[in-house]
Amino acid sequence: MINVSQTQQPFWNNQADGYVIFIKDDLTSLDGQNLLNDIEQKHYPHLKKIFTHHQFKGNCGQSFVLSAMDNDQLIHFIFVGVGKVNRSSTQEVEMLRRALAEAIRQQKKLTLKTLVASLPEFTAAPYDLAKQLTIAAHMASYECSKFKSDKKEAPFEGSLLFVTDEKTCAPAIADGNIIGQAINMARDWADTPGNILTPTELSLHAATLAQKHNLKHTIFGRDKAIELGMGAFLAVDAGSDQDGKFVVLEYKAQEKDAPTIALCGKGVTFDSGGISLKPSNSMTGMKFDMSGAAAVIAVMDIIAHLKPAVNVICAAPMVENMPSGKAARQDDVVTAMNGKTIEIKNTDAEGRLILADALCYVEKNYHPDIMIDIATLTGACAYALGHFYSAVITPDKELATTLEAIGAATGDRVWELPFDDDFKASNKSDIADVSNSGSPAYLAGTITAGCFLHNFVDKARWAHLDIAGTAHDVPAINYVGKGSTGAGIRLLTEFILAYKK
Ligand code: BES
Ligand code: ZN
Ligand code: ZN
Repeated sequence: MINVSQTQQPFWNNQADGYVIFIKDDLTSLDGQNLLNDIEQKHYPHLKKIFTHHQFKGNCGQSFVLSAMDNDQLIHFIFVGVGKVNRSSTQEVEMLRRALAEAIRQQKKLTLKTLVASLPEFTAAPYDLAKQLTIAAHMASYECSKFKSDKKEAPFEGSLLFVTDEKTCAPAIADGNIIGQAINMARDWADTPGNILTPTELSLHAATLAQKHNLKHTIFGRDKAIELGMGAFLAVDAGSDQDGKFVVLEYKAQEKDAPTIALCGKGVTFDSGGISLKPSNSMTGMKFDMSGAAAVIAVMDIIAHLKPAVNVICAAPMVENMPSGKAARQDDVVTAMNGKTIEIKNTDAEGRLILADALCYVEKNYHPDIMIDIATLTGACAYALGHFYSAVITPDKELATTLEAIGAATGDRVWELPFDDDFKASNKSDIADVSNSGSPAYLAGTITAGCFLHNFVDKARWAHLDIAGTAHDVPAINYVGKGSTGAGIRLLTEFILAYKK
């Protein structure tokens, strides 16, 4: 856990044990020259020489620590490289996220209580920069240590102070703390394995949050799903000994006539593939298959804190996809809540089944203006876009463009994949209205899955986010580390906060 706050004290007057200095690749500091001059004058007159000797070049992600005594206290200068800074604003902010993450890695390693960093003057507005860096600090401080016997009693605790006089920064940091904590909460759920984080357990986390914020919440299982005609959700739920749960949380804006945004998140707490059993290599990591549900619940936590003038609904179908004598078979035909029949050609394409009923449920009950679903839906997505971009699929060009822009600004990047009628034919079934698995002749598994979902959208503007490549085990981005990343939370939060009808 890290606690981020603002300080208006001069940089060196903060009684910290760690001082972060951002260094560009010309070995000057981002704050101008002052901080480096101060260190040179007081402690290390040959600082540049030392940098060169240790091959510290100010490249992004590089760091170098020097220690000194100051008023009988041992203090540490953490120099972190930011590389070149004359790039586009979103890239600069991303560089700073990574530089700060490296400083926090050093903080953890050296067990420093308090880091001080000056908030650089940058192309990005101070509010945005302070918020983005606060979120990144939380993300960088996260680790899932609760299953390590030696660490579980003493997880990392530290603070970070941003030196700035900017008035907008205090609320930015406060918002960033809320968003960062919610992201890490969702990551902790996703990192928790399926034997512990069952659908019931995840639904209890959602209920606890709803109670904390006084949000209306509805949680039901098999019986109610039968009553509602959720044949697609029930088909996936059928194979497991764990009861499936359908969770709905509602945030109501104070403003009358506020628009409504609905979020649907795939909550498969473990995806074995079902009767179409996955090979064991592909099954590893399938505890993360509830990352979409975790994301939308975390967003509700943030929204309940930040109270935007938009109604927000989240629906998260939670199931475990297992093979058993009660499991759905290949060739089965089931009927979704909107009456459409689905031929189950592959029980491993279960995410789209539970989301089909979630989309129907949400639209029928809440008539949202916008509906966005988020899911670790297709392995093909990770092949198409890799780990750094989630896919967005939508018939709504404007929505795609907005999501892409917000993705770039928040570091939670998305890339649009095409959506048109040619792909729709891939989901044809000989016997039912649609098949749950796109014909292999069409390839493009991520797009055909998106097209499948569109069958369950009626009037709302809609976009589908595939986070299969971005939700966990992302290499090279130091502030997301190992395991779950919280993909989509920054994106959806900012989308809601910025939404104007
Ligand atoms: N949960 C998987 C998708 C996935 C794969 C997420 C790898 C993260 C990493 C999903 O339920 C699935 O199995 N999809 C199938 C669909 C196919 C059977 C049409 C896939 O991607 O192979
Ligand atoms: Zn699957
Ligand atoms: Zn799945």
